[in-house]
Amino acid sequence: YSYTPYTGSPELLGAIRAWYARCFGVELADENIVLLPGSKGGLSRVNLALADPGEVAILPDPAFPSYWSSALVAGLEAHRLVLEEERGWHPDLAKIPAEVARRARFILLNYPNNPTGAATTENFLAELLDWARRTGTLVVYDNAYQFITFDDYRPLSILSLPGAIEAAVEFHTFSKAYGMAGVRIAFAAGHPQAIAALKKIEVYYQAGIFAPSLAAAAVALNEGDRAVAEAVSLYAERREAVLSLLDGIGWPHEKPAGATYFWLKLPGEETDDVAFCRRLVEKTGVILTPGSAFGEAGRGRVRLSITQPRPVLERALGRMAEVLGRD
Ligand SMILES: Cc1ncc(COP(=O)(O)O)c(C=O)c1O
Repeated sequence: YSYTPYTGSPELLGAIRAWYARCFGVELADENIVLLPGSKGGLSRVNLALADPGEVAILPDPAFPSYWSSALVAGLEAHRLVLEEERGWHPDLAKIPAEVARRARFILLNYPNNPTGAATTENFLAELLDWARRTGTLVVYDNAYQFITFDDYRPLSILSLPGAIEAAVEFHTFSKAYGMAGVRIAFAAGHPQAIAALKKIEVYYQAGIFAPSLAAAAVALNEGDRAVAEAVSLYAERREAVLSLLDGIGWPHEKPAGATYFWLKLPGEETDDVAFCRRLVEKTGVILTPGSAFGEAGRGRVRLSITQPRPVLERALGRMAEVLGRD
């Protein structure tokens, strides 16, 4: 294999343009798109591309942890924006102090959400874009779980809202709905100057993307609709199974609206999420992620992932039931 062009492959760029138009009614040009070897790295390099050390990034809490670690490594000041349970795990944008909004270079949000399992609405996205325009802050929208929504929630692209291309950059990965996490391929789309800045940083840090990953991604976008629909219905089945297993154990829960997670309060009298998860793995071999791994706001919660097959989930919940019953 030789190096691939830094700009990626025309086939994949064409497939992304066609996919956005087909799935979300959004017309893009190549200047609106940057290809990435995974969205974790791309989202981390946002800090270098869009801000200078000492400038402010507004980041959610709880959140996919690398938003925070990469902003701190890049020397940014991170402003903590709490996702509120009463708002369906959305932030109250009015709580962002004017002084923070004035200094912020970008606000990062992610729906369908890791770790809360929340999905968003057009109304919230419109409110977010309105706030961003008023304050001159770029929206970085991590749409990693773009098609994984349940019930009445439908897949949304922030770029489908009027004027969003001038206010937002949206990240998509092939790791989730397309089941291609190890292929390491993703892309971001939107605001042309922000995309140009991301392309420049990618050239400093990467020497192109592995050719088979580029080819596989184009095939996934062009021919993957059915596979995605199957994956989403599999997640929906697993969600139903876990809901009834949790009911069986008597562990209170909310229904995730999207993504692949349950965001559970600690059961019974438990107060320490780390100690609880440690005890659970030692006694049962079942791993839940302590909520505090996702930020201060996650304390007292645990994240249960439904990325394993249903029989594994059933076995895991069965073992948990025994331990919770015994404790
Ligand atoms: C919200 C969110 N964003 C980004 C990523 C990273 O995905 P990728 O495999 O593209 O690096 C993940 C992976 O878990 C995630 O949950």
